[in-house]
Amino acid sequence: MSKNVPVVEFKQVGKTFISPDGTPHEAIRDVNFCVEDLDDEGEFIALLGPSGCGKSTILNLIAGLEPVHPATTGEVLVFGQPVHGPGPDRGMVFQSYSSFPCYNVLDNVAFGLKLQGVEKDEREERAMRWIKRVQLAGSEKKYPHQLSGGMRQRVAIARTLAIHPRIILMDEPFGALDRVTRWGMQDLLVELWREVEATVFLITHDIAEAVYLGDRVFIMSEGPGTIVEVVDVPAPSGDAATTQRTEAFSNLVHTVSQKFEKHIPQMGSA
Ligand SMILES: Nc1ncnc2c1ncn2[C@@H]1O[C@H](COP(=O)(O)OP(=O)(O)O)[C@@H](O)[C@H]1O
Ligand SMILES: [Mg+2]
Repeated sequence: MSKNVPVVEFKQVGKTFISPDGTPHEAIRDVNFCVEDLDDEGEFIALLGPSGCGKSTILNLIAGLEPVHPATTGEVLVFGQPVHGPGPDRGMVFQSYSSFPCYNVLDNVAFGLKLQGVEKDEREERAMRWIKRVQLAGSEKKYPHQLSGGMRQRVAIARTLAIHPRIILMDEPFGALDRVTRWGMQDLLVELWREVEATVFLITHDIAEAVYLGDRVFIMSEGPGTIVEVVDVPAPSGDAATTQRTEAFSNLVHTVSQKFEKHIPQMGSA
């Protein structure tokens, strides 16, 4: 694969949904961005925007998931190729706990490997490795309903990372978690991300989360959403709880909040 081919590129992408009665609804408009393929590391993109502005639409277009896929206008390219549907190069982690309720943790984490035809012993060994990495060793025989919200999201992360996607798509993965659990998950995510060197797109409406995790923050306007500003932020240099309590970090969040407010006045205090 050529180094010069971007990981993901959107060229004037628009998506209009048609309701059952035929009314068109323009979700996103003229979305343009490019995420380059960096040597030995992936970029972390945080997508920040008000509810309903089209954040999930953008992620689903990258994932190739219907009914959002395909775009109505423009081009969605992954490694230089138009997206035709889902693929193992892209893994998704949703906000709602997307584990299979009838499978235990081990079978949930091994699920993608099973689909890929990896035989039982190997897939269970690989799944166990990821279960340990997300600190769930000892819970591999438990079912999702026996786990806390944070644990279930760790299952979802392990399941996605087990298939080694080059691109990890996360749709408000920590949105349902309390603040302290969320900080712990942010630390874990940073640690894992540095290890797997994947490109990450993470949706959040939490400005601090976007600033802490992102290399770049894409700020979106209200629907029909488009990217109105891209802000470069420093990579995390300490743990989430400590960093996010510092004055320097608060100042950075304030700067990004002001940019956000400039485009979406009523969201300034979000
Ligand atoms: N499958 C769909 N059919 C019809 N409308 C949709 C569909 N998915 C999203 N929308 C609409 O498109 C807009 C953007 O949605 P979404 O991307 O989910 O926003 P966000 O994730 O930023 O909250 C919203 O107005 C939403 O109601
Ligand atoms: Mg959404």
